[in-house]
Amino acid sequence: MALRKFFVGGNWKMNGNKDSLGELITTLNTASLHDETEVVCAAPSIYLDFARSNLDPRISVAAQNCYKVAKGAFTGEISPAMIRDCGADWVILGHSERRHVFGESDELIGQKVAHALENDLGVIACIGEKLEEREAGTTEEVVYAQTQVIAENVKDWGKVVLAYEPVWAIGTGKTATPEQAQEVHEKLRAWLRANVSDDVADSVRIIYGGSVTGANCRELASQGDVDGFLVGGASLKPEFVDIINARA
Ligand code: 13P
Repeated sequence: MALRKFFVGGNWKMNGNKDSLGELITTLNTASLHDETEVVCAAPSIYLDFARSNLDPRISVAAQNCYKVAKGAFTGEISPAMIRDCGADWVILGHSERRHVFGESDELIGQKVAHALENDLGVIACIGEKLEEREAGTTEEVVYAQTQVIAENVKDWGKVVLAYEPVWAIGTGKTATPEQAQEVHEKLRAWLRANVSDDVADSVRIIYGGSVTGANCRELASQGDVDGFLVGGASLKPEFVDIINARA
């Protein structure tokens, strides 16, 4: 179980420009990063090439979304093949902002997951309940249903990281407590054990996202089933280095 490599993703969302991202990249390139942590930065698609050309090779690059087919008349979309062509190895899919701001369905997210994996991208698959769902006591039901659709579209779990991001914790400064995060992660791992396999349950990284900061990352990282983070706001600041090194 301890063999799961700690994974920290920075989701830059729709932020930055070449100046500010260039500065951030210099900070990351020159920082001392724990060898045993896998680090991925998710850039806006127009900056994928810029990020890949400038980031140190020990840091991987991700796209924040992609479409479900390779090419065609889909104005404004990008394909996994294009993401790979820019030298990026990962894509975030099913982020709550894609689900709730842009109305992406579980079905569409599942199709995207299948197509991205077929094209050899690693997938950071996001799930998480809204505040009203947590308050109604349906957190498990919601995250299991989201995970089920993802699982139906995964053949090789070696290329998947599951990101639990409670919607009420994203960009709100309201972090899940280490106990709340651990509880859901443990249940998700049990779900994988019951519905996929022991191997997958033991090996898949389940990372937490939602107002992770330099100040709260260590306690969260100390939880047995928290295998890393997906970080929004704080990934644009030098404190991202402390988050990467949370388990050092
Ligand atoms: P914040 O860290 O800004 O809450 O965002 C989390 C997130 O959505 C990462 O994908």
